[in-house]
Amino acid sequence: MHRRLVTSAVVAAVCATTLAGTATPASAAPRNVDCRKVRCVALTFDDGPVTDTRRLLRTLKERDVRATFYVVGKNAQRYPATVRDASLAGHQIGNHSWDHADLTKLGAAKVASQFSRADAAIKQATGKKPTTVRAPYGAHDATVRAAAGRPLVHWSVDTLDWKYRDTARLIRTVGAQTRPGDIVLLHDIHRTTVDAVPGIITALTARGFHFVTVDQLFAPARLSAGKVVHHNRAAYRP
Ligand code: NI
Repeated sequence: MHRRLVTSAVVAAVCATTLAGTATPASAAPRNVDCRKVRCVALTFDDGPVTDTRRLLRTLKERDVRATFYVVGKNAQRYPATVRDASLAGHQIGNHSWDHADLTKLGAAKVASQFSRADAAIKQATGKKPTTVRAPYGAHDATVRAAAGRPLVHWSVDTLDWKYRDTARLIRTVGAQTRPGDIVLLHDIHRTTVDAVPGIITALTARGFHFVTVDQLFAPARLSAGKVVHHNRAAYRP
């Protein structure tokens, strides 16, 4: 896109002026992909950020891939610049509770606090309140769904990356199991997972997949508050 713009000095100047006034560079905006027509997958990275999240962001940038990060509030508070930069790069940031508690074991006030404290840390970092949440361990009940006040986005490809810590196995699993509309659960807190991301991107690209954020995966549908989703396979009608 930039290459085409620089062919005209006038257009380039206008573009530079426009970009200077925007928080997100145009090149970072997620691609306009229709997941009803093309094969989409949402890669999701949970439990960070940690220091190694920076390495993951570099890989995603090099490969021009957008993903969704379900960050833990207290980690977002510790590494706000990482969360900000992920958001600015076009990735979606979701709420994964304040400190990764099993929310089904807490009372309503504490569940609400888990979400609101994480929202505040994320908003402090990115300027935006997350549009989706993911319950730690995928554990939810009526209290959790009500407190979330947004859709709960869980997953359909459970890689068990936290258990195996095996880069080659992870690439094989995701490459073989992913179907259009799937949401892949990954954890950027594990070095073996970050190591696997280039291979995962290569494997899925070879199968014709487009990498989208969670919001893009469900667009143009708007998910209702408290609804729990695991994938959007049904929308794919090529
Ligand atoms: Ni988690």
